[in-house]
Amino acid sequence: MNAPVIAVDGPTASGKGTVATLVAKALGWHMLDSGAIYRLLALAADEAGVALEDEAGLTRLADKLDVRFGEESVFLAEREVSFDLRQEATGLAASKLAVLKEVRAALLARQRAFRMPPGLVADGRDMGAVVFPDAPLKIFLTASVESRAQRRYKQLIEKGLPANLANLLQDLRERDARDMQRAIAPLKPCEDSILLDTTTLSIDEAVTFVLHEAQARKLQ
Ligand code: CDP
Repeated sequence: MNAPVIAVDGPTASGKGTVATLVAKALGWHMLDSGAIYRLLALAADEAGVALEDEAGLTRLADKLDVRFGEESVFLAEREVSFDLRQEATGLAASKLAVLKEVRAALLARQRAFRMPPGLVADGRDMGAVVFPDAPLKIFLTASVESRAQRRYKQLIEKGLPANLANLLQDLRERDARDMQRAIAPLKPCEDSILLDTTTLSIDEAVTFVLHEAQARKLQ
């Protein structure tokens, strides 16, 4: 039997990463940060000099992507890339290669391999629609673009990273448009997704909501 999956999808900076991580912790389940895989591929492409539009080259890189997730750090081959991974430029590059059909297909098995007992919380854009369509709980997290830009700004400043609110707002809009308008696996709620608008919710409130839905489905 397949382990149960809670799919947490939504736009950038909607809080889904934080919410998914806390839900996984509360349940004692595994966690998949699928965005990190797209980001890692963007870093690998930069390193190998492969263009973000080169579908065949990126697909070859995706097939042999050598990544390791540690407790606190992420490795690309032998290189620790946790810092580079979280840069806004890396997210932007990831969203460019994420429009490519063959690239997405090449990353599918790698994402599905995270599904292990007792369960998986999967954070991304297409977790419910494509990667784990049979997930018994699908959450679509949203928040207004302004509040997402504010959150991302606060996050970056807290980490001591450079940030500019106006630029962030523009980047988020650009990224939203690319994620929602792409032909393959566009960002949108599934028919069976539960919508959760976190604009006025705290992280704790959002986590409680998801745990309550999990309980209602007897997943914990
Ligand atoms: O943290 P943030 O939401 O900004 O980005 P992320 O979740 O790390 O994902 C980076 C980019 O990868 C997104 O803008 C998407 O274009 C792409 N992505 C995707 O296409 N499918 C996923 N399941 C996860 C991420």
